[in-house]
Amino acid sequence: MAGLASGTGNRRAPLADRKDDLYETPDVAVHALLRQEDIPALDWEPACGPGAIVRVLRETGRHVIATDLVDYGCPGQASGRDFLMELSAPDGCEMIVTNPPFKLAGEFAAHALHLVPRCAMLLRLAFLESEKRRAVLDTGSLARVHVFRKRLPMMHRHGWDGKHSNSGMAFAWFVWDRGHEGPTELHRVSWEEA
Ligand SMILES: C[S@@+](CC[C@H](N)C(=O)[O-])C[C@H]1O[C@@H](n2cnc3c(N)ncnc32)[C@H](O)[C@@H]1O
Repeated sequence: MAGLASGTGNRRAPLADRKDDLYETPDVAVHALLRQEDIPALDWEPACGPGAIVRVLRETGRHVIATDLVDYGCPGQASGRDFLMELSAPDGCEMIVTNPPFKLAGEFAAHALHLVPRCAMLLRLAFLESEKRRAVLDTGSLARVHVFRKRLPMMHRHGWDGKHSNSGMAFAWFVWDRGHEGPTELHRVSWEEA
């Protein structure tokens, strides 16, 4: 399969070139999340990249603590911070909102729930299709999945110079809540609404 282009540019890039898996979240995805979920006034984006999620949340007046392993220039970020090594959340922070590196998405979700009561992650819909992620999928705290009715625009690897089109993969916001009771709710949402 080497050399085949996927919609996100993933298969074109050898793993070494993909570095820490930087795929920026389109603004419209964050606005869609804000329409669906009650996002607190103080949040943590622990894999902030250049700040795609951070910027949109800050534009709404929220205070967002931004950290990442790598410094991609997000304003106010702390870099060199491996989220999986974090021992606690920033003071007063009760929610994580992020689009993590997909190769570590299961670990990010488990660790996030360990540190904060609520967390929203933009993930491939295929995240659901897993045996090894049962600890975050089947134990009751996955409260809601907001799947986009239409593919998100422009989910391309950083530096992608191929055609810019809609994502070749289905994405969804996965929302975990330690206090959730009952089955996971599935919502079909649009990123096109004003
Ligand atoms: C898919 S990109 C998303 C960037 C940003 N969250 C967004 O939504 O545009 C994943 C990000 O995770 C960061 N990352 C990778 N491994 C990490 C780790 N162990 N701890 C913190 N950040 C990490 C990468 O540097 C990259 O910025």
